[in-house]
Amino acid sequence: MVGDSLLDDLPGWLEQSCPAAVYVVITDATVAPLYGEEIAERIGESAPSHLVTFPAGESHKTRETWATLTDKLLAAGAGRDAAIVAVGGGVVGDMAGFVAATYLRGIPLVHVPTTLLAMIDSSIGGKTGVDTAAGKNLVGAFHQPRLVLADVSTLGTLSPVHIASGVAEALKHGAIADAEYFERIAAQHVQIKACRPAAMIELIKRSVEIKAAVVCEDDREEGLRAVLNFGHTIGHALEATTGFEMPHGEAVAIGMVLEAELGTSLGVTDSDTAPLLRSALEAFRLPTVLPAGADSQAMVANMLHDKKVRQREIRLTLLKSVGQVAKTGGGAWTHPGREDVIRAVLGSGS
Ligand SMILES: NC(=O)c1ccc[n+]([C@@H]2O[C@H](COP(=O)([O-])OP(=O)(O)OC[C@H]3O[C@@H](n4cnc5c(N)ncnc54)[C@H](O)[C@@H]3O)[C@@H](O)[C@H]2O)c1
Ligand SMILES: [Zn+2]
Repeated sequence: MVGDSLLDDLPGWLEQSCPAAVYVVITDATVAPLYGEEIAERIGESAPSHLVTFPAGESHKTRETWATLTDKLLAAGAGRDAAIVAVGGGVVGDMAGFVAATYLRGIPLVHVPTTLLAMIDSSIGGKTGVDTAAGKNLVGAFHQPRLVLADVSTLGTLSPVHIASGVAEALKHGAIADAEYFERIAAQHVQIKACRPAAMIELIKRSVEIKAAVVCEDDREEGLRAVLNFGHTIGHALEATTGFEMPHGEAVAIGMVLEAELGTSLGVTDSDTAPLLRSALEAFRLPTVLPAGADSQAMVANMLHDKKVRQREIRLTLLKSVGQVAKTGGGAWTHPGREDVIRAVLGSGS
């Protein structure tokens, strides 16, 4: 469900889509005073509810937090007839989702995403999990939610940087599947930056449709789902080699431009694609060139060690043009990225 002020009737939505004997609201310490406490209270008016909180931030998306949260559920006596309500950004969604996937071998889950990224990306598709010292999202499970309730009124408290970070993923959805949608986002940049409800609802709906359509075709990431990785091969390498300090959407913004340039160098991507991406991203003040401190050698090394790399070959999702992903002659969704061409694109930096 996508709309404005939907949370006013959360108990009704829960009763309809996820009836349970008790609801455990999981949120982080930043979102708790903004929305989590009120949501737990409102649910509590018609059903037993608990509020469980953990510290905010990616550094807490860990097995240690998972252990603390599941211990709290056990101490509260939550049984198989309980349901988890995840209230927060992607960190809360991934963390609470993994608790729901594993607690008593799996209990129902409802997502109440409160960041734009969580509304259009992380709450859709059923991926849950935690980070480890060896890398991000390496331990997890697929666990589909019973309901995702995106209430755009919660975006009002989100920082402009986090709004822009979500928009980068929305532009990615347009770039891989719908050129008209891509152009609409760019044209509506003023309304979107101001978080106008009508513009946000339209944006979230179309992005969710695109992501959901891909995930429905390939829910276990065997082929088509790779298209969602556009911008992420270079984006992840940039994040990993800069200590994950850069907002994810900014890394993806740079990754999309560089992967479009790479595609053009390889003769796969139309030459106007990178400029179109660059101007749309710039309208949202998203970066489009590597930051000064980026280490292109380390980035290539990182790409070669990615968990999805087969036989030391870097494979990437490439566009044909804005709105269309290019398949290889053999029908694959990812292309081998020649190391020399990748080095050249990273080296030039723009
Ligand atoms: N499961 C998936 O398919 C998937 C997809 C993409 C990303 N992710 C994951 O999502 C995470 C990133 O998510 P994110 O960008 O939402 O980060 P986040 O969850 O860390 O949220 C960003 C910050 O905003 C705060 N916040 C959340 N909602 C707010 C609101 N309405 N008002 C004010 N502050 C608010 C949070 O407390 C946090 O400090 C990463 O861990 C990433 O791996 C998962
Ligand atoms: Zn992403």
